[in-house]
Amino acid sequence: RPLLDPVPPLPALYTSVGFSIFAFLSTVYLVLALGQTFVKAGLKGGDLLKPYRHEIPIPESMGLVCASVYILLLMLFIPFAFSNFIMNFASQKHHLEGISVVEFPHHQLSVYLSSLLSLLIATMLGFLDDVFDIRWRHKLPIPIIASIPLLMVYYAERGNTHVVVPLPLRFMFGTVVNLGPLYYIYMALLSTFSTNSINILAGINGSEVSQALIIAISVILNDLLYLPWPMDFRIPLHLLGNKAEVEFGGVWSAGMAHGSRELVERHLFSLYFMMPLVAVCLGFMYHNWYPARAFPGDTLCYVTGMAFAVVGIQAHFSKTLLLFFIPQIFNFVMSCPQLFGLVPCPRHRVPRYDPDTNLLYPSTTEFPKPPSRITNVTLRTMAALGLTELALHPSTGAIQTATNLTILNFLLVRLGPMNEKRLVQVLMCSQVAGSVLAFVVRYGLAGLVYDG
Ligand code: UD1
Ligand code: MG
Repeated sequence: RPLLDPVPPLPALYTSVGFSIFAFLSTVYLVLALGQTFVKAGLKGGDLLKPYRHEIPIPESMGLVCASVYILLLMLFIPFAFSNFIMNFASQKHHLEGISVVEFPHHQLSVYLSSLLSLLIATMLGFLDDVFDIRWRHKLPIPIIASIPLLMVYYAERGNTHVVVPLPLRFMFGTVVNLGPLYYIYMALLSTFSTNSINILAGINGSEVSQALIIAISVILNDLLYLPWPMDFRIPLHLLGNKAEVEFGGVWSAGMAHGSRELVERHLFSLYFMMPLVAVCLGFMYHNWYPARAFPGDTLCYVTGMAFAVVGIQAHFSKTLLLFFIPQIFNFVMSCPQLFGLVPCPRHRVPRYDPDTNLLYPSTTEFPKPPSRITNVTLRTMAALGLTELALHPSTGAIQTATNLTILNFLLVRLGPMNEKRLVQVLMCSQVAGSVLAFVVRYGLAGLVYDG
């Protein structure tokens, strides 16, 4: 019996582009229009790295506007994402011809709805963090719990929990290992990592939103590789080699050359979530660029971070996604001594601003009493690697100060003082370089390490 399998709704992609343009314009307008309302509600902060930091209040948590526009538009888009099925149901023609119509994809709907649920919780958490400054130990577990709906949906479709073992390690583990529950723990941790890692790489104008923007664009580029392009386009992509298609279980050897239907659908889903995200980020960046007229607050960091976790998990490319977070991973690993209490962590680790030269210098953390042995070893190792700069007591040689352990201070230590705008541009370049590296590793080097 012939089965009519509706093609993935490519026209919905155009609708999504239209929605994104609308999202961009709304964000540009609303952030401007609502700024003073936020200030009146007490959602404001001084721009730490400006001479006017105490005089002019900047509206804070404006990421709430981005999150609202983003989530509302995603909800409005639901019928369009399923338009091909709606059309099919609507037309009786197929029934008359004796062709059975494929069932409504309830599974895809649950993918969509659980994603919205996670985004909503991330927004709520981010906003609460802005208002109440939640403690670390309280805010870490929340994204983990927020990821349970995603993991359940992943489980429901028997998502892949296997990883392909790189060639040199195969004599120990075999070709493929099933990580089972460990894989679920990894995905849950991914959501807490992606939300918090953007938040701790922050404090200079444009830093948070530019990270989100570049990661979202990288995800979109990756998604485009999987769409059913005309054959001429697909052949060169195939030549890139897709031997290490590790994310897709059964179809990994088929990979993108086949453009398997499931694969296309997953990456379409990812595009539906990433295109409006790029739009709201661009719209917000217009106001957050140096000198900032609006601050993103933790809300933007959380909602963008969760959006990445959502597409990484739901579209089954969480490992590729992690590759787009190279600067954040670097910043997180570097921050660990401060985050976990080995080294004192001031409330703000942003660089130090010098009003006379208008330049930023690395900020420091002080040791009122000589640090413990383990702290000593850690900091001296990091200093030897060029990650931090220490000031030693002239006679005893004990560490007195160390530059704060963030990628921003690291860049200033290595490249010398620069102004805030230049620093955010350097940060953006490192994010782009990270994404280029990610593509090389994913599609180039993977062929050397895996044989498919
Ligand atoms: C995180 C960082 C903290 C950094 C802060 C800056 C860790 C563990 N925490 O804390 O070191 O100082 O972000 O966002 O790494 N601000 C600016 N310019 C900007 C953006 C923010 O001056 O472009 C200032 C404003 O005063 C704003 C405040 O940062 O009010 C927001 O800080 P918040 O997001 O609450 O800090 P955390 O996320 O807790
Ligand atoms: Mg923050």
